[in-house]
Amino acid sequence: MSERAAIYLTTPIYYVNDVPHIGHAYTTLAVDMLARFHRLDGRPVKFLTGTDEHGQKVEKAAAQRGLAPLAFCDEVSQAFRDLCPAMNYSNDDFIRTTEARHVHACQALWQRLVEKDQIYLGAYKGWYSVRDETYFAEDELVDGKAPTGAPVEWVEEPSYFFRLSQWGDRLLQWYEDNPECVAPRSRRNEVISFVKRGLQDLSVSRTTFRWGIPVPGDPAHVMYVWVDALTNYLSAVGYPDESTDAYQLFWPASLHMVGKDILRFHAIIWPAMLMAADLPPPQRVFAHGWWTNEGKKISKSLGNTIDPLKLIDTYGLDPVRYFLLREVPFGDDGDFSHAQMVRRINADLANDLGNLAQRSLSMIAKNCGGVVPTPGPFTATDQALLESAYGVLGTMREHLAQQSFHRALEAVWDVISAANRYVDEQAPWSLRKTDPPRMATVLYVLAEVVRCAAVLVQPVMPDSATKLLRQLGLDAPQQFDCLSAAAALVPATPLPAPQGVFPRWVEPATPATS
Ligand code: MSP
Repeated sequence: MSERAAIYLTTPIYYVNDVPHIGHAYTTLAVDMLARFHRLDGRPVKFLTGTDEHGQKVEKAAAQRGLAPLAFCDEVSQAFRDLCPAMNYSNDDFIRTTEARHVHACQALWQRLVEKDQIYLGAYKGWYSVRDETYFAEDELVDGKAPTGAPVEWVEEPSYFFRLSQWGDRLLQWYEDNPECVAPRSRRNEVISFVKRGLQDLSVSRTTFRWGIPVPGDPAHVMYVWVDALTNYLSAVGYPDESTDAYQLFWPASLHMVGKDILRFHAIIWPAMLMAADLPPPQRVFAHGWWTNEGKKISKSLGNTIDPLKLIDTYGLDPVRYFLLREVPFGDDGDFSHAQMVRRINADLANDLGNLAQRSLSMIAKNCGGVVPTPGPFTATDQALLESAYGVLGTMREHLAQQSFHRALEAVWDVISAANRYVDEQAPWSLRKTDPPRMATVLYVLAEVVRCAAVLVQPVMPDSATKLLRQLGLDAPQQFDCLSAAAALVPATPLPAPQGVFPRWVEPATPATS
């Protein structure tokens, strides 16, 4: 990501024609983990999410419900807002495209593009799909429908156009000069090939419906919903006032996290618009993959959408957060299955981390008078384990700079596994009789590794990490600068009674069939 201290992370803003599902929860969760990680790493962070509320689809959906568009948006936007505490997102801001600050920013950006002769009035004719909010050329239609299967209608309307066609070379230069600006690599290559095939000017206004931001000076037009939507990233840092602290600190954005379906808007149209307005483009756009449900594509019509609130109810919040970020190499598509979820809960959480903490802390409670044991000299083995626990942060930083959440978590689990092997090899339960001072040292080393693990899992499982830290007599949150011997557990500190933090999943008994 960026070399500067401050980090600005964004999610897409979600359409209000749908209730939140696993796809929305996933994008925001990924950003939440990054935001929490960087804050604990001592960097100023702005984490933005929100809702995308204009467009013909919303106008129609509101009419069907007999509601004014804004009343309809208020209701659905609230469902996305409510998802934030339910998923324990730490967003600093929630933007709605119907807010005055956003309307103001959009109109100012438009004006600036007009002044720079980047927007002109023309006419648009084409096959329009309301569902995709996109025009299709005749040869793109499949059996008279959009490639997505959505119905299309012939639309002829006067329209303003953005001179996107002028920006191909500048974009190609930008991708070349900034190898990290679009990721993952395969998607970056797709974007580059698309731009190399040549870009056309983009229709950026509509006259066929009213629910949008009026074009300055020509209110018969409203802005094309994607121009409106993309500008949210600027509105939230106070644009057009470039002198604000927020703008100075956070623009350009460090990372726009998006799903693979909306990469072109973010990696082509958005940077081109910014360059045309003489504003710096984002530092990075990352496109993640899509979830399927037990091997099947998720769709409203199949009725197999996954409700994040139900998942939390069934498996618990932190296990869901862990699973989503650990299960699939970030960037690839992934499959949600009950069996895999249970495997992660039982293997990674209950067995690996849960048992390590539970075994170590119970032995300390029973054999060390319920206080942090006083260690003797460390052996080379002790030292190596401690060093690896302190060193994971560096590895996590590298992986998270690439949005490799699964690898970052794997690195923590490597240390957890090493600690579990260490318990078996050192057998502190035998040392209790043969060498009590050595037992105290081994249990101290284990408690210290559990401390590091708890500190490192804070961004992905904040509640469970807090519980673990409290059992070690520590407050939460713990900043990452505590990951060193200098901040190690203090011998003789009293500890509360240990409690399991990661229960095993036990399949509910199914009634016997006769
Ligand atoms: N409103 C636009 C974004 C504008 S950003 C300036 C939009 N909204 S959306 O609600 O349709 O989708 C938001 C995000 O959800 C996208 O990043 C999309 O990839 C993601 N997902 C929707 N379904 C998904 C899955 N099944 N799996 C993973 N993510 C998916 O697009």
